Amino acid sequence: MPDINIESLMRENIRKLTPYRSARDDFDKGLLLDANENSLGSPIRNSLDLHRYPAPTQDALRKKIAVWRQVDFENIFLGVGSDEPIDLLMRIFCEPGKDSIIITPPTYGMYKVAAHINNIGIKEVLLTESFHLRPQEILKVTDDKTKILFLCSPNNPTANSLKLTDMVKLVASFPGIVVVDEAYIDFAKQESMAPLVQQYPNLVVLQTFSKSFGLAGIRLGIAISSPEIIRVMLRVKAPYNINKLTADTAMKAFENMPLVKFNIEKIIEEREYVAEQLRQANSVEKVFPTDANFLLFKIRNARQIYEKLAENGIIVRYRGNEPHCDDCLRVTIGMPDENVRFLKTIKSLIT
Ligand SMILES: Cc1ncc(COP(=O)(O)O)c(C=O)c1O
Repeated sequence: MPDINIESLMRENIRKLTPYRSARDDFDKGLLLDANENSLGSPIRNSLDLHRYPAPTQDALRKKIAVWRQVDFENIFLGVGSDEPIDLLMRIFCEPGKDSIIITPPTYGMYKVAAHINNIGIKEVLLTESFHLRPQEILKVTDDKTKILFLCSPNNPTANSLKLTDMVKLVASFPGIVVVDEAYIDFAKQESMAPLVQQYPNLVVLQTFSKSFGLAGIRLGIAISSPEIIRVMLRVKAPYNINKLTADTAMKAFENMPLVKFNIEKIIEEREYVAEQLRQANSVEKVFPTDANFLLFKIRNARQIYEKLAENGIIVRYRGNEPHCDDCLRVTIGMPDENVRFLKTIKSLIT
């Protein structure tokens, strides 16, 4: 266990914060005349009582997620997508204009955007050419102002999982918060790091309903961490960040886990098929290993192929501007017929 004092890592204003008390913190039953809601009701007919504010800390849903991820309820924070906890962690731990984070490009773009918005410094330690971490380099650039290390595994846009041994080594030795973004973990062969939050108080694992659950539209993200970090995230978040429609939909999704699991298996099966087909295609120089619901591949004249695909109504992502990603495209695994159409079109463009 790292010798780390989470509270001393926090910004002073956050340590001293008196959080907003929402109307529903004390009572949520009885004649509710406390929250200036519209007592006559909403124009929507359903059982959710939408004229009432939602539960401030969404305990029922957090309990459900804790069981699913085999951690304790106190280890779970819910956010508006994963993007909310990314921003929140920066606001809790990084002093604007003074502190910094480390990111490991090529990686998910929101860490940088959130740091820019919060006026936080960014140190970049590139992944290796095979898209793995360089732990020694990361520790070398770390100083007492470096508060958060963002790792992404499986990584976007490269699709591979980072090595578990590298990540654990960093969690154990980095003198700040280590965020491991596991948005794509349910498509991976590699195990989640979530259970390790019981052991490492500085570890935050991010997950989301946007990918494996197919619920990007409800904007529900999860942060799994030590009770100490979860408590402060709950204090700093907006009082009613998770709305009733989102919470209700997520609860209902748990009633249909066989379909969630079936879809994950189907996506993995399709992914292997698309990867194999791409490998056999002319001009495709490399299909990178994937543990996600997308593929990164290197193809000659990637920019033109990208544009021609778009002219044919097929939209993929050009990633050639990212480090070590020259001539690379990223494609999400679609429905079986969509994958066939993608493969047919790309093959017609390169032969
Ligand atoms: C690595 C990674 N993290 C987080 C997200 C966003 O997740 P959410 O929809 O929960 O905000 C994405 C979306 O593409 C992603 O690739």
